[in-house]
Amino acid sequence: MPETNNVDYSTKIPNNVGLSDDQRVLKALEQWHPGYIDWWMSRGPEGFQTTQVYLRTAVSIDPKGWAKFDYVRMPEYRWGILLAPRQEDRRVNFGTHKGEQAWQEVPGEYRAMLRRLIVVQGDTEPASVEQQRHLGKTAPSLYDMRNLFQVNVEEGRHLWAMVYLLHKYFGKDGREEAEELLARQSGDADKPRMLGAFNEATPDWLSFFMFTYFTDRDGKMQLESLAQSGFDPLSRTCRFMLTEEAHHMFVGETGVGRTIERTCEAIKAAGIEDPTDIAAVRRLGVIDLPTLQKKANLHFALSLDLFGSEMSTNAANYYSSGLKGRFQETRIEDDHRLTSASYPVSKLVDGKVKLVDEPALTAINMRLRDDYVADCAKGVERWNKVIEKAGVNFRLKLPHVAFHRQIGEFASVKASPEGDVVSHTEWAQMKDQWLPSKADGDFIESLMQPCWERGKFAPWISAPKIGIDNKPGDFEYVKIHQA
Ligand SMILES: [Fe+2]
Ligand SMILES: [Fe+2]
Repeated sequence: MPETNNVDYSTKIPNNVGLSDDQRVLKALEQWHPGYIDWWMSRGPEGFQTTQVYLRTAVSIDPKGWAKFDYVRMPEYRWGILLAPRQEDRRVNFGTHKGEQAWQEVPGEYRAMLRRLIVVQGDTEPASVEQQRHLGKTAPSLYDMRNLFQVNVEEGRHLWAMVYLLHKYFGKDGREEAEELLARQSGDADKPRMLGAFNEATPDWLSFFMFTYFTDRDGKMQLESLAQSGFDPLSRTCRFMLTEEAHHMFVGETGVGRTIERTCEAIKAAGIEDPTDIAAVRRLGVIDLPTLQKKANLHFALSLDLFGSEMSTNAANYYSSGLKGRFQETRIEDDHRLTSASYPVSKLVDGKVKLVDEPALTAINMRLRDDYVADCAKGVERWNKVIEKAGVNFRLKLPHVAFHRQIGEFASVKASPEGDVVSHTEWAQMKDQWLPSKADGDFIESLMQPCWERGKFAPWISAPKIGIDNKPGDFEYVKIHQA
């Protein structure tokens, strides 16, 4: 079957890349498949593997109707390989090859760099499934449980997407990399996942919502810049992944938003004047706003680290080679080569954070991070609207980019959420005011009681405004009581 908008379901692996005509790659993927299922069963969602879950499956790449909703047992989910439609006469849009035909095969000189980009992206996909594997059993509703599993199966599909590229375009070393993607494990001492944030624990549902808001959004920015790639199969793969990714961030934004809504409602109902009276708010069985701020501080800082160092020759090389572009590259008005442009970079100058003009080419990571911060800020404003509407006097804000960093310009200093460099003594004194403490974690954990009645929600979170696939409020998203 040639490449089309519709997906071929006749092969074991649904696809729109003509796999049935490509026996070599089909065989390689079929050989990889049992290892993937093993991974899913042993390191994917804990429990619920025989439960019917109301999930969407990608059945087409038509933007107007690409998904179909139905009950499915997760191990039977059809993880497919789907690329966005090929654009006629697509060009390399940036770097030294700007204007040339986009590559349909891997350019020999960039093989190693390209493989590295695909492996790093691929590694994050199964990592988050591993991080979230324990959450099913404390789901605050069937609706939320379904959303968790939807995110998980789609991250699984994203792994398939990257593995397809490795098998199709990289031969033997591609196959080895595909094996390694199943061998590394989030948080493992010997074989951890490649990036820091993907080795952190996701201990509770608030962490999950913060993760899908902040860390999946890093994923969005990375996919957006890979979608600009001159290597056309990578571009098309990432473009389709972005359609799914939007739901992951929706889960995060609305999950945090519903938590805030419930907290504010409880504060008002109890007549609490001061929303920072943590003890009083916690007695109501909801998560106080200062703790929500600390959670946001942590997840934002961890996610900023994923952008790498502000100044990076690797990033410059990826760009000049036409492999990884900027966010919305083709909409930017400049020469798309950046040989003489500059870009303002936050740096430490005499113990203060200042903007310093640096060559735009080596500041590619900084620019993508700036775009990310602007994107994050929009959702935070929507959360503030929820607080405002409830008449509670509190505002959430993103911490400064220098706060709690492990990578880049600010890794060597301690900074407050306002971006002031502080001493180690001051940091030690203030740390528990700025980041979730052990006691905060214990309190949140105490609220994580499962709520699996149809249409019911745990007392710390509000019901969503609308159901998934427009289903009514009491819809049975997960058939928990029947296997
Ligand atoms: Fe993903
Ligand atoms: Fe995602």
